[in-house]
Amino acid sequence: MQNEYALLDSGEGRKLERFGYVVLSRPCEQAVWERQDPEAWAVCSASFDREHGWTACGGAQMPDSWVVTINDITMRLKPSPAGHLGVFPETRELWGMVTDTLRGAQVKGSGVLNLFAYSGGATMAAARAGFPVCHLDSSKSMVTRARDNAALNHLGDAPIRWIVEDVNKFLDREIRRGRRYDAIMLDPPSFGRGARGEQYKIDRDLVLTLEKCKALLTEKSVFLLLTSHTRGVTAPQLEGVVGGLMGRGKTATGEMELTGATGVRAVSSGVWVQWKPEQ
Ligand SMILES: C[S@@+](CC[C@H](N)C(=O)[O-])C[C@H]1O[C@@H](n2cnc3c(N)ncnc32)[C@H](O)[C@@H]1O
Repeated sequence: MQNEYALLDSGEGRKLERFGYVVLSRPCEQAVWERQDPEAWAVCSASFDREHGWTACGGAQMPDSWVVTINDITMRLKPSPAGHLGVFPETRELWGMVTDTLRGAQVKGSGVLNLFAYSGGATMAAARAGFPVCHLDSSKSMVTRARDNAALNHLGDAPIRWIVEDVNKFLDREIRRGRRYDAIMLDPPSFGRGARGEQYKIDRDLVLTLEKCKALLTEKSVFLLLTSHTRGVTAPQLEGVVGGLMGRGKTATGEMELTGATGVRAVSSGVWVQWKPEQ
């Protein structure tokens, strides 16, 4: 497996990560401990904080954009004014799980629906298993980015529908059309905006979104995968919501972690729950 991402160290409210040839230091609230390897931070290419934005370290150059391969998925990264890059590396282990689960399954409905799909990591994980994918995000620029990423992965001609829309509006329309999907993945933000400014609040809207997702799954669906980066949301909570709502089936959960070489302390960065119907 090709992987150019690694967590190098964390501590004192920051994380140090390698994305290919670029090493970045960014804020990380969870890293309440001391740094394990203070010397590692000397190799940093650029640093981000909310007050000053991005600052190149020493004589290093901060590229406007660059390409990395993370767990066999290639992506263009671009530092944003909010300190994001266009990938959440804590989701990388899930990409493999998505590909492996779908490889053992058959397309019976409209394929995989990826909601809040951002730069497309999970979309490409599903597409590389041979499934048609519907990729939805309210941000036009993120959908363009995901499309460019698909091309970088030789998936430019894969059967992927690219949709810029508000999640709940789109789900209502798909239900009216009678469409059914084999699998659904969703990564709702704590707070977000639809394509026409519609508010999305995870604590207010998640259950409604999940009910709509349930209505859109085929009878013999493969899975529903919910991930959350929202602070305070725990795996048992998500499992309770998904298990209770989806009914008969099996759930599995776990933490999404930033990880690096053996010995580097992992940083928990969210939780996931996967539901599969009873066979
Ligand atoms: C937490 S990010 C998803 C990260 C992504 N799943 C990944 O792992 O790379 C949330 C995404 O949801 C989108 N979004 C926020 N509110 C939305 C809404 N109401 N409808 C559709 N997309 C929305 C944002 O544009 C953003 O790309």
